[in-house]
Amino acid sequence: MLKIKNLSVKHGQIEAVKGVSLHINPKEIITLIGSNGAGKTSLLEAIVGLNKNIDGEINFNGTDIIKLNSDQIVNLGISLVPEGRQIFSKMTVSDNLLLGAYPRLKKEKVSSISFDFIYTLFPILKEKTKLLAGTLSGGQQQMVAIGRALMAKPKILLLDEPSTGLAPLVIKDIFKILFNLKEQLGISIILVEQNARLALEYSTRGYVIETGFIVSEGDSKDLLSDNNIVRAYLGKNYKEVTDK
Ligand SMILES: Nc1ncnc2c1ncn2[C@@H]1O[C@H](COP(=O)(O)OP(=O)(O)OP(=O)(O)O)[C@@H](O)[C@H]1O
Ligand SMILES: [Mg+2]
Repeated sequence: MLKIKNLSVKHGQIEAVKGVSLHINPKEIITLIGSNGAGKTSLLEAIVGLNKNIDGEINFNGTDIIKLNSDQIVNLGISLVPEGRQIFSKMTVSDNLLLGAYPRLKKEKVSSISFDFIYTLFPILKEKTKLLAGTLSGGQQQMVAIGRALMAKPKILLLDEPSTGLAPLVIKDIFKILFNLKEQLGISIILVEQNARLALEYSTRGYVIETGFIVSEGDSKDLLSDNNIVRAYLGKNYKEVTDK
């Protein structure tokens, strides 16, 4: 479905991603694990066209998307839920959601845009639709960020550390919703997570990225039982140690 080959991503002279190859199949969740600064965000941003200082191949359902701009990539069906959520706290929940539909407005009228699907998925957002997004709890704000990405009707959803700053029970709720998106709608998901153990439990495969290179990949259950990976990324204190 999405095939990345030998992708390099630079910020000016700094090469953040160095010849990465990975793929995701239809209706699959994969996890990307890596320490701070490993290149995870750079990789996700490059996939959705937010950084054009890139080299290599990104093929989505047979289309080479490396030269396309962000709106075109979103319209083809890849959406990013960015690190730190990036919602607009002084705008209402519904206006934040509507922003996610912006790339669709080239083909559709605003009046035809429906929020029903998002409100079915996150009923609490329906209750809060007219409130300023900044007044919501962290978990609800993450739902807004996910809802906004879903408004573009993606086939692949990229999530950059969705659990940051959320309570364990809220994190589980969010992961369950992501799992249901995959099961019920067939949306594929690339999950970047510091909370690596939980993410691997919800995914079929995982990749480990270190200083811009993929250093390990495999079935999630194999990664979960790999001693080196457990020691480096899944140890009891991993989250506390690496959380910003
Ligand atoms: N806008 C930028 N300008 C210059 N260097 C950058 C920029 N963004 C990222 N980098 C550098 O690129 C490398 C990869 O950063 P990136 O944010 O992709 O890592 P990450 O794996 O997402 O880290 P984190 O876990 O902290 O979110 C780091 O060395 C970082 O300092
Ligand atoms: Mg990051």
